[in-house]
Amino acid sequence: MNGGEDEPLVLGIETSCDETGVGIVRGTTLLADEVASSVEEHAQFGGVVPEVASRAHLTALVPVVRRALGRAGVSPGDIDAVAVTAGPGLAGALLVGVAAAKAYALAWDRPLFGVNHLAAHVAVDRLEHGRLPEPAIALLVSGGHSSLLRVDDLTSDVVPLGATIDDAAGEAFDKVARLLGLPFPGGPHIDERARHGDPAAIAFPRGLSSPRDVERHRYDFSFSGLKTAVARWVEACERNGRAVPVDDVSASFQEAVVDVLTRKALAACTSEGIGTLVIGGGVAANSRLRTMAQRRCDDAGVALRVPRPGLCTDNGAMVAALGAAVVEAGLPPSPLDLPADSGLAVDIVIVRG
Ligand SMILES: Nc1ncnc2c1ncn2[C@@H]1O[C@H](COP(=O)(O)OP(=O)(O)OP(=O)(O)O)[C@@H](O)[C@H]1O
Ligand SMILES: [Mg+2]
Repeated sequence: MNGGEDEPLVLGIETSCDETGVGIVRGTTLLADEVASSVEEHAQFGGVVPEVASRAHLTALVPVVRRALGRAGVSPGDIDAVAVTAGPGLAGALLVGVAAAKAYALAWDRPLFGVNHLAAHVAVDRLEHGRLPEPAIALLVSGGHSSLLRVDDLTSDVVPLGATIDDAAGEAFDKVARLLGLPFPGGPHIDERARHGDPAAIAFPRGLSSPRDVERHRYDFSFSGLKTAVARWVEACERNGRAVPVDDVSASFQEAVVDVLTRKALAACTSEGIGTLVIGGGVAANSRLRTMAQRRCDDAGVALRVPRPGLCTDNGAMVAALGAAVVEAGLPPSPLDLPADSGLAVDIVIVRG
């Protein structure tokens, strides 16, 4: 089933970090989602090495595009548009994807759309739950970003309500995991260890949640104080010759992050009078976040949309999903001299050059 033949068939390319992702989407139907990851090449360094990531994209890109076309059962002549992550992300890594997308768009004589990686993390939900009811509140929680957004139109009107003032939520997961001796990237490992721990074992701080902080930073987040609190707690444990209870620390840390994220997201829904919350980005794969968000949304009468875990981390399908929304909205394409913008602001959905 290729979905409605009158819906746009879009190929999306994602190379902003360490995954070479190519997705093919017809309207809101996912046809292919192929990924080649260089994560294992970075694991030994405890973080992504930009030059290694760029070179891996270069090697992987054409084979991954071919694989996606084969998986979707479509030929290049069927593709209506090419979408690519134009930012934010690692400059060199983005350049590989943008250059490839330009080459495909030119060779196939199809329009090119340079789109925002962060909006794509939100748009991917279309592939699971259909078109997003607007307005919606979006909680975007990934390795490099944590934002609360008011989405009046996914393709043209995304308003930031707040963001992290220091570390991103995913970054906090990765740093705490490192501290606990868990492998990179740490989020999934903390999630797993937390299943066996007590979330109330240690009362870690909830950043920017005191009444005074909320006055100034109602929808902002802060995770660096929490990370330091975990570090101090672990150090004290080691100093006293006690084994670090990794499961309890994981569960208590995760609870602090998830508590603040869901509390602020629901506060935004309530005070903006919006009945839909969508969560996107790698941290949206977190099992505790999904459970707590569901419970708090149910209590508040808010409809929750979270894509399945496999669609939360970087992939090409999310870029194709946003590309399809942009084509459906009838928006003009990006120019062929489209730049990659490593610091692209969250409210610029399509890059115009
Ligand atoms: N189950 C999980 N629980 C918590 N965090 C998770 C889980 N799965 C993945 N993550 C975290 O998600 C992050 C990766 O997400 P994503 O791929 O969206 O980030 P990114 O693309 O590197 O950053 P950005 O999208 O901001 O550019 C990592 O920090 C990882 O630890
Ligand atoms: Mg991402």
